[in-house]
Amino acid sequence: MQEIDEIKIQEQYIEKVTQINKDKNLKYYILTMGCQLNENDSEKLCGMIEKMGYRPTEQYQEADLVLFNTCCVRENAEDKLFGKLGELKRIKEKRGTIIAIGGCMMQEKHITDKIHESYPYTDIIFGTHTLHKFPEDLYKILEKQNKLQDVIDIDGKVYEGLPIKRTSNIKASVTIMYGCNNFCSYCIVPYVRGRERSRHPKDILQEIEQLAKEGYKEITLLGQNVNSYLKSEEWKEKQIEYEGINSFATLLQKINKIEGIERIRFISPHPKDFTDDVIDAIASCDKVCKLVHLPLQSGSTNTLKLMNRKYTKEQYLNLVEKMKSKIPNLTLSTDIIVGFAGETEEDFEDTLDVVRKVCFEQVYMFIYSRRVGTPGDKMSNQIPEEIKHKRFDKLKQLVESQIEQNNQKYVGTVQKVLVEGPSKNNPELLTGRTDSNKVVIFKGMPELTNKIIDLKIISEHMWYLKGEIINE
Ligand code: SAH
Ligand code: SF4
Ligand code: F3S
Repeated sequence: MQEIDEIKIQEQYIEKVTQINKDKNLKYYILTMGCQLNENDSEKLCGMIEKMGYRPTEQYQEADLVLFNTCCVRENAEDKLFGKLGELKRIKEKRGTIIAIGGCMMQEKHITDKIHESYPYTDIIFGTHTLHKFPEDLYKILEKQNKLQDVIDIDGKVYEGLPIKRTSNIKASVTIMYGCNNFCSYCIVPYVRGRERSRHPKDILQEIEQLAKEGYKEITLLGQNVNSYLKSEEWKEKQIEYEGINSFATLLQKINKIEGIERIRFISPHPKDFTDDVIDAIASCDKVCKLVHLPLQSGSTNTLKLMNRKYTKEQYLNLVEKMKSKIPNLTLSTDIIVGFAGETEEDFEDTLDVVRKVCFEQVYMFIYSRRVGTPGDKMSNQIPEEIKHKRFDKLKQLVESQIEQNNQKYVGTVQKVLVEGPSKNNPELLTGRTDSNKVVIFKGMPELTNKIIDLKIISEHMWYLKGEIINE
């Protein structure tokens, strides 16, 4: 198969670069700027880079290779990247550091043009479909010292078997599908990530079984629209069924049986594809966490239509009711955009109304950011910045008051907590997370790390809870 050959070729490049780098004691710095899929891509890049003889450093000033894995979902990411590239100029002149930029933003031509023009000292530019070729790109730079752009516009294949260096020993991310077919009108992702491609169930199971062997307790399944797993044309044609897996629901059921894995999370599902079999699978699989991330984006049927989300306010609320009735102890989190083109005060009130009704555990709030090439950017009735900010502040106030209220419910209860290790802010304390992903801080021995234990919640503090070990 072509995909396997391609990985073999890259293995040869890894070998060649390793030879060139031998005994040089080289360091690399990586900055991951995007979502969890982007982070998972970075883990693969780190896997390849470390095999090629580089060790990680947190200081880009001392790095021999600097890599930015970019995101372009909102505008601020661009300013951040250009700022960093500006800072690197002097360091590059002094040390000859290799500068590589990859990820979603590199699929945008106006951005790569700007990099060539304003930051010509950048060595490698690669996109989302050519990540696996990083060893080859790096080899070419080391050999010829010429600038290189490796970005393709067609959908990349699904490559298996890349080395990976994971950031945690306890929780791991597993990408189950790439790309997106939904074209929400505000969103750039379908343009920079291509169409939906699902991984073969066999490869996903293998990866998770390996993670279980390595001692991982929690996995998060990743995709832009996880509940359309195996629903794209290529798989429908093949009518794939592997060990009973032919959908997202059956995938959850199968993973639920993998020994050693104790928690399963997933992001993001799309409300329009939240079929009953998925609800039933969440309810019946004991390892699937009962916190479901259900992106709302807007509570107004009008705005949702303009956003091309394919559900109404009522359909979203009905779905929530159905899920609450079928899944005991369900908690919900969501994403909301304020100030999308054409959003009236009334539309915004509808968003507040849904937030009041659903009472989310967590809300990720975003101010609408126009993205070049999306239908939203071309809409005429854009909302002035100050109104967007006013609405954002109002939503934030509501959300924070709800979180405070919600937190009260935890005080006095016993929660199962996966212990992640000493707290960064206070190493004398341990930190962990509940099923609903709330941070809990408590006193305990470091040996409890990577165990799920019962904690009594004694107080709440907006962004975390305090707990204590129950003495039997
Ligand atoms: N596929 C996922 C999310 C992808 S992007 C989903 O559909 O839920 C993560 C979040 O960024 C989105 O849920 C949305 O709330 C936000 N987002 C996407 N495009 C945006 C834009 N142009 N401006 C502001 N927020 C945006
Ligand atoms: Fe963007 Fe919509 Fe796809 Fe999510 S589902 S990645 S918001 S287009
Ligand atoms: Fe993720 Fe940003 Fe790309 S949100 S998919 S890294 S545009």
